[in-house]
Amino acid sequence: MDESSEKGRRGARIRKILIFFLILTGISVSRETDENHRCMVCHGRKGMKVKVAPKKYLSLYIDYKKFRESVHGEKLCTDCHTDVVVIPHLKRPKKIDCLQCHYEGNVFGAPVEKFPEKYKESVHGKARKEGKPNSPVCIDCHTTHYVRSPEDTLSSVYKTNVIRVCGKCHLHELSTYNDGVHGKALSRGDKDAPSCNDCHREHDILPPNDPRSSLHPKNVVMTCARCHADVKVMKRKGVPVEQVKAFKESFHWIALKFGVLSAANCVSCHGSHLILSSTDPRSPIHPRNLAKTCGKCHPRADENVAKGKFHILPEEPKSGIVFYVSLFFKWFTFLILAALVFHIILDLIGRVRMRKA
Ligand code: HEC
Ligand code: HEC
Ligand code: HEC
Ligand code: HEC
Ligand code: HEC
Ligand code: HEC
Ligand code: HEC
Ligand code: HEC
Ligand code: HEC
Repeated sequence: MDESSEKGRRGARIRKILIFFLILTGISVSRETDENHRCMVCHGRKGMKVKVAPKKYLSLYIDYKKFRESVHGEKLCTDCHTDVVVIPHLKRPKKIDCLQCHYEGNVFGAPVEKFPEKYKESVHGKARKEGKPNSPVCIDCHTTHYVRSPEDTLSSVYKTNVIRVCGKCHLHELSTYNDGVHGKALSRGDKDAPSCNDCHREHDILPPNDPRSSLHPKNVVMTCARCHADVKVMKRKGVPVEQVKAFKESFHWIALKFGVLSAANCVSCHGSHLILSSTDPRSPIHPRNLAKTCGKCHPRADENVAKGKFHILPEEPKSGIVFYVSLFFKWFTFLILAALVFHIILDLIGRVRMRKA
């Protein structure tokens, strides 16, 4: 058998395989369009809607281009609407649960990094279960057919957009947040600033008085510290960064550690949504308001508290008297210890000499 006929046969085989694959992909492309266009014949009509309550309509129109651009755009309509088999279909196809794919260990490749399953235990999930219709389900935050990745700037849950999603229902919190330093920074497009879910999380949102909440007095320091202890981020913003470290050396932190939840945490002094710089006269930490802020818990606090700095690190000379007192005690302790050691050594030498004598 010569080499060229061997090559020719191999070429033919490759051609055959190629043609086979071309046919296969051709079939699958037309399967996608055929399948979905079966639905789009009707659901592609703008203005298609159905009355669900007196004066309340549900739009049945799907913008197919936007659907195809979504994270589920490669799916068939019937991957989710599995019970829609024949056309015309049942009047009320069954409800779709997003969690039918987005559960831990699923085989669909549906991401679960943010634990969407925890929604069921969240304040929103529980309220829904109790029949409160104004509590959000997956599609209220993510949209139904136009779901995008949180990293996509067009996504409803993209960092700078999600405040509007939460704010639809929590108007008061949105407006106070927008007035504060965090909201102002985010509206400038600063992605280092916290959005609602950086503090509250997204799927396991709990009332702040629940011990498992990221904002429970026991946990709130960690939540603020995630950013405020990050030297890189805070240097960039020109925001002092020693607060967290200093706080962790304060009486308040020690009290909190011992379970005294009435002790001050970051939020007791700074507020939660309307957080302002100490130079802003509206801020609870503006020197003029400090007596009132500390006075909430220390009834005898007076104007004198306003004179001292609050977040201080004893090891820094700029802390003034605290630095020198701290320095004094450091040396004082050292000298006492040294004297003690010296005394023990003298004592030992004395004993050895006595035994020898
Ligand atoms: C012949 C037109 C037509 C076609 C084709 C069609 N539908 Fe529908 N669909 C309707 C109508 C009409 C309704 C509203 C039924 C009602 O509630 O009265 C509807 C309702 C629905 C609903 C739910 C509405 C609700 O109340 O929750 C879903 C989901 C749905 N269709 C999915 C599909 C899918 C998936 C396909 C393709 C496999 C499809 N439809 C093809 C006409 C059509
Ligand atoms: C990733 C899953 C998924 C895919 C893919 C999907 N749907 Fe839906 N669809 C839903 C969910 C969730 C709802 C919300 C109602 C519910 O709970 O069943 C819904 C609702 C609907 C409704 C009722 C109107 C509305 O917006 O609530 C129609 C009509 C519909 N789908 C048609 C389609 C058509 C046509 C396609 C294909 C182009 C499609 N769906 C693809 C998940 C999906
Ligand atoms: C049929 C299974 C299925 C259903 C039902 C489903 N998803 Fe998905 N979802 C997926 C898969 C698979 C991906 C990954 C797609 C990809 O990366 O190409 C995905 C991706 C996502 C992403 C993007 C995640 C990321 O980090 O990029 C979000 C958000 C999402 N889905 C939310 C939802 C919501 C909300 C619903 C209900 C309306 C839903 N999903 C219903 C299978 C599903
Ligand atoms: C209160 C609003 C809200 C509700 C309700 C909600 N989500 Fe989310 N979801 C978010 C936000 C905000 C993010 C973006 C998180 C981030 O910035 O990384 C997100 C991210 C995601 C992601 C992408 C991250 C990941 O896990 O890989 C998926 C998937 C997802 N959600 C699925 C769901 C499902 C399924 C439900 C319903 C059980 C649901 N979500 C309910 C707000 C919500
Ligand atoms: C810097 C962290 C932070 C950010 C950002 C934040 N919150 Fe809060 N939020 C808190 C804290 C702390 C509490 C609990 C203490 C309080 O009630 O003041 C709280 C309480 C709440 C409550 C419960 C109020 C009540 O009276 O029980 C809601 C609702 C809420 N926030 C919604 C939002 C929304 C919506 C956004 C985004 C616009 C947002 N939060 C942004 C920290 C934050
Ligand atoms: C569709 C409306 C809606 C959306 C969107 C929504 N919420 Fe809520 N939220 C509610 C309702 C209703 C409750 C009260 C549930 C109850 O009565 O127990 C609630 C409760 C809360 C609570 C607990 C308040 C308390 O005092 O216990 C917090 C915190 C919260 N939501 C934060 C958020 C955040 C953050 C987002 C956005 C990621 C968001 N919500 C999106 C309707 C919404
Ligand atoms: C996601 C990161 C992040 C989280 C979480 C966060 N912050 Fe901030 N914070 C920032 C950034 C960034 C700035 C600077 C904003 C600017 O550029 O004006 C800031 C500014 C501030 C300022 C004003 C500083 C100044 O000099 O103007 C205070 C006070 C503050 N945050 C307190 C808090 C408290 C209290 C919490 C917790 C309840 C918290 N922050 C949670 C990122 C965060
Ligand atoms: C949310 C309530 C609360 C706020 C606000 C608060 N504290 Fe405290 N503080 C406590 C508690 C509780 C203790 C624990 C020991 C105790 O019972 O005195 C404590 C302890 C202290 C101590 C050490 C023990 C003592 O009583 O001398 C000092 C000093 C102190 N706080 C100063 C301040 C200053 C200054 C402010 C204002 C910038 C302030 N605190 C705001 C609750 C608070
Ligand atoms: C007992 C009250 C109190 C507590 C608790 C507290 N702070 Fe402060 N914070 C202040 C005061 C007062 C200032 C004003 C400047 C100073 O004295 O350092 C301040 C200043 C700041 C600043 C600089 C902003 C400015 O405009 O000067 C940041 C950032 C900050 N605190 C973050 C935090 C964080 C994060 C926590 C929790 C780990 C926290 N604070 C806990 C009272 C408090």
